[in-house]
Amino acid sequence: MSPNLPTPPTPPISATSLTSPDETQPLREPAASQAVLDSLAGVGQAQYVHEISVLREWLDATLLNGFPLRRTEIESWQAHTPFASALITLTQPAVFVELGTHKGDSYCAICETVQKRALPTQCVAVDCWQGDEHSGGYDDTVLKELRAHHDPLYAHFSRLHQSFFDEAVAGFEDGSIDLLHIDGLHSEEAVLHDFETWKPKLSKRAVVLFHDTQVHENDFGVFKVWSALSKNHPHFEFTHGNGLGVLAVGPNVPQAIKRLCALAASPSTQADAQTLRNTYEALGSSVLYQGRAQRLWRQADELWARTQTAESALDHTKQDDRNLWNRVQKAETDLAHFKEAHQAAWARIAKAEEDLQVYQSAHQEAWDRIRQAEDELTSMRELNTQLQERHEKLLKIAKPVLGLARFIARLKNNSSNP
Ligand SMILES: C[S@@+](CC[C@H](N)C(=O)[O-])C[C@H]1O[C@@H](n2cnc3c(N)ncnc32)[C@H](O)[C@@H]1O
Repeated sequence: MSPNLPTPPTPPISATSLTSPDETQPLREPAASQAVLDSLAGVGQAQYVHEISVLREWLDATLLNGFPLRRTEIESWQAHTPFASALITLTQPAVFVELGTHKGDSYCAICETVQKRALPTQCVAVDCWQGDEHSGGYDDTVLKELRAHHDPLYAHFSRLHQSFFDEAVAGFEDGSIDLLHIDGLHSEEAVLHDFETWKPKLSKRAVVLFHDTQVHENDFGVFKVWSALSKNHPHFEFTHGNGLGVLAVGPNVPQAIKRLCALAASPSTQADAQTLRNTYEALGSSVLYQGRAQRLWRQADELWARTQTAESALDHTKQDDRNLWNRVQKAETDLAHFKEAHQAAWARIAKAEEDLQVYQSAHQEAWDRIRQAEDELTSMRELNTQLQERHEKLLKIAKPVLGLARFIARLKNNSSNP
């Protein structure tokens, strides 16, 4: 602080005295980073009071007490969300239109501010939701997923309009759009075409945002369009986050925009313009890194959940393994028993075969003896028959002899007993 200069008075715009674009209605819920503001106020040079108040005006209007709800892996716009929240708060557009929304990082950040501040802004996102040469093609799951996030929170003041830009333009009244964000295909021709096509729809208060003003590769030509348009309109450009150009197109843009553009226009306030850029870059980085951290935590949670699932699957597998092992052991024991029983059966069969052989030879022997006995019987029968025959023959021979003997005996008897 210079000793020759008095301590600067409190800047005229404070958190409680912020005014809306028509400068009559106090804004709702202004937020301020006191530390940042105090350090800026501490510059303490009278000629900077006006510029400090511009910085303070923008920082007061920036939602510093939270990070945007929706941050996908498409990060390129996320670093501009702190500025966007201030822009919406300070300009309170009646109608905001975004050309090129994809997963909705920029659009939802703006809707979130409208909702948090309870602003009367109507929002429309226009996109074919098919992708383009620069962002690549994608399928309809992108829009489905965005709707699932967007509709429950913002559908009462915002709509996602699936259409090509050139077809959608007829649905808007001339002079009706207060804030237009051009973020479609980034070739010079496409950006200029989008600006010229939608220009008649811009209101007298209109501000147009151009994203990617700092990208000089891959056929991006926003920087060329920006360079040409910014020669003819008050403007302010942020160089971080691929560059964001703020173009004051309408003749009656809100005072805050006029003051912002004036800051960049005057050589004497370049340093303050740079301070504002640096501050939003720092705020944007915190959004970006916190978003990355959040996604990493989410991935870590998912990995942890998958690890737990895998562990419980492993436990089940181990249990199955144990069960299988028990069944294998039981099968092995059963098999051993069967083998034993099988062997015993074979031994009994072998024994039975041996016994059979013994019985067969005994049987054979018995048959032999039976046959021998039968033979003997036959021989004896034959012998018997022969004896019978000889007996009969003898009887035949003996009969007359016996008769003669009995006759002789009678004769003897008769002679002795006369
Ligand atoms: C760079 S991305 C938008 C990024 C978005 N603003 C963000 O915050 O991440 C460009 C989008 O514009 C869309 N687009 C490009 N040309 C278009 C056209 N002529 N009509 C409709 N959509 C278009 C693409 O489908 C793509 O989703």
